[in-house]
Amino acid sequence: MASDLRLGVNVDHVATIRNARGGGHPDPVRAARAASEAGADSIVAHLREDRRHISDEDLTGLMESIDIPLTLEMAATDEMLDIALRHTPYAVCIVPERRQERTTEGGLDVAAGHNHLKRFADQLGANKAVVSMFIEPDRDQLDASLSIGAPAVEIHVGAYCDALIADEQDAADEHLARIVDAASYGASIGLQIHGGHGITFDTVGPIAAIPEIVELNIGHFLIGEAIFGGLDSSIKRMRSLMDNARAQARGEVSA
Ligand code: PXP
Repeated sequence: MASDLRLGVNVDHVATIRNARGGGHPDPVRAARAASEAGADSIVAHLREDRRHISDEDLTGLMESIDIPLTLEMAATDEMLDIALRHTPYAVCIVPERRQERTTEGGLDVAAGHNHLKRFADQLGANKAVVSMFIEPDRDQLDASLSIGAPAVEIHVGAYCDALIADEQDAADEHLARIVDAASYGASIGLQIHGGHGITFDTVGPIAAIPEIVELNIGHFLIGEAIFGGLDSSIKRMRSLMDNARAQARGEVSA
């Protein structure tokens, strides 16, 4: 049976390694093709305003040569809107962006940015992109995402993953409870629920077990792990951990 939990593979950090030296190696477009062969359902790329990893040429290359959907992550700026409208990726995830941060450290405040973000959701939606808002697991943010007309949200699961990796079990349990509540509430009001950020082999299980989540977007860990066993192996292992967690949650296999 095909899995009902999609895996989006983020190739930003292939470009990070390439950019450390300049030149063209390793090529994120080649990594995206390999990810597709390994079982990724979609490719994710974040075109940052400072172009620290993915470049405009990478985006063109991804649009031209991958055979699975592309999700473009972008800040809510007019420059990015223009690029997204030109390239017409399958999906667009709107993320907060601060230049001084190393990665996307928190979710969007959709409630506070309502009018501004609605313009993005409207224009991208009219262009047939599946628009998602990258938010903290918070009911107000889910309500706000629905009210601007976004069909999907991606829940930031980074705090849960970080706490689990730091062996802070109580904090991890609290973060997970918030994610479970947000996923269930979000689905009940009609939003498509995705999850992402900080996911590893050790943290993916409880997230994948949440029945309302239909897509996980994973990057840094998969690319890092590929150094040791190859991209094919890191993606296949993640896929199988996701599928097993989901099957166990349904009672289809024993733990
Ligand atoms: N989802 C979103 C919206 C992100 O901004 C990122 C980081 O680029 C990811 C998922 C992937 O996070 P990670 O690289 O930690 O797996």
